[in-house]
Amino acid sequence: MKRYSWEELYAELSDCRRCRLCERRQHIVPGEGDPHADIMLIGEGPGQDEDRQGRPFVGRSGQLLTRMLEAIDLKREQVYICNVVKCRPPGNRTPEPDEASACIGFLRAQFALVRPKIILLLGKTASRYVLNQEVFIGRDHGRWVERKGVWMMPTYHPSALLRDPALKRAAWEDFQSVQAKWEELSNGGGREA
Ligand code: URA
Repeated sequence: MKRYSWEELYAELSDCRRCRLCERRQHIVPGEGDPHADIMLIGEGPGQDEDRQGRPFVGRSGQLLTRMLEAIDLKREQVYICNVVKCRPPGNRTPEPDEASACIGFLRAQFALVRPKIILLLGKTASRYVLNQEVFIGRDHGRWVERKGVWMMPTYHPSALLRDPALKRAAWEDFQSVQAKWEELSNGGGREA
């Protein structure tokens, strides 16, 4: 895997034409937050608001996500937030597998730079491409997977919670579990430096 600095990563992303999603984008949405965050959140891909602003999770689902983070005493600036694909899929469709694989190197590079202790996978697309296995959110949300000292958990995508508010209770329990895991890891249970 190519080793990037943040500057190299952003420079390479800035004129990326690795897949067809470059054709209709207004802005690339690389990601934002603490570059050395303990907690990384990964979504699917930018929506319309994100494409306009060049920032992840700033639309309605982003506002809900921000409130859920705040409810577990986390500010957006404390975590690192990004997506599987960095350009908006037209009509907010799910990224095609070739689009995700064209972009996944950037996500891996972000992971290598941030070195999070915890990764929260927002929805099926992020869960599937990061865990490299089929995931059913209704069944698998809230289940921790540990790989090489990094703890990862699939949970509902905030847009699913907007569509079906009855899911919010389960998502809230997932977020509380993230808070508990973070406290546990911060109190000596973390991976080696
Ligand atoms: N949905 C996502 O998956 N990512 C965003 O940045 C916004 C909405």
